[in-house]
Amino acid sequence: MVRPALAGLLLALLMGCGDGEPGGAAVGGPPLPWAYAPFPKLTAPADNPSTPAKIELGRLLFYDPILSADQATACATCHSEVWGMSDGLPRSVGVHGTGPTGPGRTGPNVTERNAQTLWNVAFRRELFWDGREASLEAQALRPLEEPGELGLPPAQAIAALATVPAYLTLFAAAFPEETPTLSETTLARALAAFQRSLVSARAPYDQYVAGDAGALGEQELVGMRLFGEAGCAGCHAPPLFESEVYAARGLGSGDPGRQAVTGLPEHAGAMRTPSLRNVRESDPYFHDGSVVTLRAAVAREVGIEVAHGRSRGLSEDEVDAITAFLNKSLTDRSLEPSRPKSVPSGLPVPKDGFRIPR
Ligand code: HEC
Ligand code: HEC
Repeated sequence: MVRPALAGLLLALLMGCGDGEPGGAAVGGPPLPWAYAPFPKLTAPADNPSTPAKIELGRLLFYDPILSADQATACATCHSEVWGMSDGLPRSVGVHGTGPTGPGRTGPNVTERNAQTLWNVAFRRELFWDGREASLEAQALRPLEEPGELGLPPAQAIAALATVPAYLTLFAAAFPEETPTLSETTLARALAAFQRSLVSARAPYDQYVAGDAGALGEQELVGMRLFGEAGCAGCHAPPLFESEVYAARGLGSGDPGRQAVTGLPEHAGAMRTPSLRNVRESDPYFHDGSVVTLRAAVAREVGIEVAHGRSRGLSEDEVDAITAFLNKSLTDRSLEPSRPKSVPSGLPVPKDGFRIPR
C-alpha cells in the first residue's frame, strides 16, 4: 500500500507541480521568488490536431509570398526567425515594401502597431495587443484581409494555391479527412498548426527550475529575485512571462488598445502583457516600438512600478540585473523554424536583412 505522504509526492511528480506558495519550487528544484507553476501542456483544438504534415505545410505557406497581393510579401516578412519572430522594426511594412526584413525596410503600408513575437503563441488565449482575436485559426486569415499587410482576399489566395500542383498534394496529405482538402478553413488550420510549433521552453531558466542550480549566473539570479520583488512577475507571469492582464504603460501613442474591444474606460490605452520569452531577440519594444533597447524598456517599466508605489526605487545595478535575467535566462531558440530555400509557388522567398548574431 502507498502511504499518504508518498502518494502526495507521486501525484505531485505526475502532475509536475510544486506547493504553489510564493518562494515555491519544483519538486527537487531550487527555490523561486514566485509560486512554481509547470510549463503548460501544448494543446490544439479538437478539430485541428497538430500533425507533422500540417506543420510542414504551414511552414511553407508562412514563407510563401503567394499569399500576398504583390507576390513578394509573406507572414515571415513581419514575423521572421532572424528577428525573434518579429521584424526588428518599430512598426511593420506590408505589401509593396522595399528592402529585406529588418531595420531599413520601408514602404507605403506601415502597420499601426509593432509586430508581436510568435514565440509561444500557442499558449495565448487572447491574440493581438488588444486581445481582439481568440484563436490562431480565426487569426490566420486576418493578415490577408488587411490591405496593408498581405492584401489578398482569402478567396483569391485559395484560387492561387489551387494552380500549384505541389500545394494540392500537400493539402491532400495534411487534410485527408476534409472535403475539399484545400479551402480557407484548411489554409487557416495549417498556418495555425505551424505557429503552435513555435515553442520556447528550454531556456536556462527552465533548466534552473528543473534542478540545475548552475544554469543561471549570479547577476541573473539577482535579476530574477528583483523581477519578483518589483512586481514584474505579477503581469509577466512565469513560466510564460506573460498574461491576459491588460495595462496602459503610459506610452502616449494615442492607441485606444483594449478599450476598442471592451468599450471600458479603464481599458483606455491598455495592452495585453507581452511575453518576455526570447525578448532579447524582438527589439524594438512596446506596442508602438518606441523603445529601442531591452535595458531602456526595463528601466521604463521599473519607473512605472515605482511611480505607482508598487516598488521601491532600484539602483542602476539592479536594473542591469533584471535586464541580464531577461536577456540571458529566457532565451531558447532550439525550435526555431528554418527558412525554406524555395517554396511550392516558385516565387522567391522574402529576404532577411543581415543581423549580427547575438
Ligand atoms: C505587414 C506585417 C505583417 C504581416 C505580413 C503579418 N503580420 Fe502578424 N502581426 C503583425 C502586427 C503588426 C501584429 C500586431 C497587430 C495588433 O496587435 O493589432 C501581428 C500579430 C500577429 C499575431 C498575434 C500574436 C499575439 O501574440 O497575439 C499572430 C498570431 C500573427 N500576427 C500571425 C501572422 C500570420 C500567420 C501571418 C501570415 C498569414 C502574419 N501574421 C502576417 C504584422 C504582420
Ligand atoms: C500591470 C502589469 C505590468 C507590470 C507590473 C509590468 N509590466 Fe511590463 N508590460 C506590461 C504591458 C501591458 C506591456 C506592453 C505595454 C505596451 O506596449 O503598451 C509591457 C511591456 C514590457 C516590456 C516590453 C516587451 C515587448 O516585447 O515589447 C518589457 C521588457 C517589460 N514590460 C518588462 C517589465 C519589467 C522588468 C517589469 C517590472 C519592473 C514589468 N514589466 C512590470 C505589463 C506589465
